[in-house]
Amino acid sequence: MTGVEAVALTERYQMANYARYPVTFVRGEGSWLFDDLGKPYLDFLGGIAVALLGHARPEVTQAVSVQAGALLHVSNLFHVPAQARLGERLSAATTGGKVFFCNSGTEANEAAIKLVRKHSFDRFGEGRHEIVVVEGSFHGRTYGGLSATAQPKFHKGFEPMLPGFTTVPFGDIDALDAALTERVCAFLVEPIQGESGVRMHPPGYLKEAEGMCRKKGIPLVADEIQTGLGRTGAFLACERFDILPDVVSLAKGLANGLPLGAVVARDDVAAAFGPGSHGSTFGGNPVACAAALAVLEILASPGFAPSVVRKGERLFGGLMGIASRRTGVREVRGVGLMVGMEMQGEAKPLVARCMDAGLVVGAAGNVLRFLPPLTVTEDEIDRGLSILESVLPAGGGCP
Ligand SMILES: Cc1ncc(COP(=O)(O)O)c(C=O)c1O
Repeated sequence: MTGVEAVALTERYQMANYARYPVTFVRGEGSWLFDDLGKPYLDFLGGIAVALLGHARPEVTQAVSVQAGALLHVSNLFHVPAQARLGERLSAATTGGKVFFCNSGTEANEAAIKLVRKHSFDRFGEGRHEIVVVEGSFHGRTYGGLSATAQPKFHKGFEPMLPGFTTVPFGDIDALDAALTERVCAFLVEPIQGESGVRMHPPGYLKEAEGMCRKKGIPLVADEIQTGLGRTGAFLACERFDILPDVVSLAKGLANGLPLGAVVARDDVAAAFGPGSHGSTFGGNPVACAAALAVLEILASPGFAPSVVRKGERLFGGLMGIASRRTGVREVRGVGLMVGMEMQGEAKPLVARCMDAGLVVGAAGNVLRFLPPLTVTEDEIDRGLSILESVLPAGGGCP
């Protein structure tokens, strides 16, 4: 099928909820994507932080094929070896607690929301079910995740949202303190806000928030769906901010492209999910879990995390250089290989220019987003930076 045919069929038979670029990728290898005409693109978006180890990573392909040849699905009425092993690894890498598997980020947050409410109900009975979220957050598109998403533009036309979510202003620690009342069962936060444009909390905010939650006995839920799994140079971004969450949600790159989500919770919180309390037909599917085991093994290999820090610094430094030589850049921000470049105007037209020049990047409002595979090479970073610079207007610098 040609790209033109794919575009025509998609437009004719699929709902118009995605604003797609008119590009059809048919193959990938490492940090590269190839369209139907064979044009190569350097992928600095990685399927929105999903292609963690690049495209067609041989170890992942091998794990998937072996498991697919043995067993695709059995349901969670039975035990699943790859799932059992993955639970052990995720527990060890995060809170040391217990895991629930699902298929996506929004499902992971949905499970986390149900878990903290049930945990609170088991401890205190009814009435302590409020979840505090931060203005500008993004937690998913199902009603739980969407209600937790403190951005009115995502709610418009879909109201009413679920009750029981309180929004605090971004970066305001006193407002958070005031909001963490005895009616609250959790504070849900992205360590770095991704979808609203790589927004960093002020220095010390997360540490202070952790202290408040501990003091008040309120579970801290970290949505690490975008920031987790080595993206910032540590398994969890929480480590980079020196905090330990009680509950963590993960998805995106966990299975390097297969649908898999997980919630990991401290044992006493996890205990709220007894038999029948929550579930998923496909959650923890053997093939996705086999892929994730291969992913975790590579993430844990010696030198992997420091290489992400090093490459992140190269990307960040390169973008700062571009900011000083080109017009229209307001700010560069991020940690590791999660970096945003805030422009003076809409980022989308620049994304289209980058695509034409063979570089895939993302846009969030007026922020260009860079989420390359963690395996991107330093040469590829330099090449991507020079493509970006070539499409930006000359002169100027950060105003
Ligand atoms: C922080 C965060 N939470 C939740 C989600 C939702 O994940 P999914 O699209 O897999 O449902 C996303 C997706 O971008 C995200 O970045």
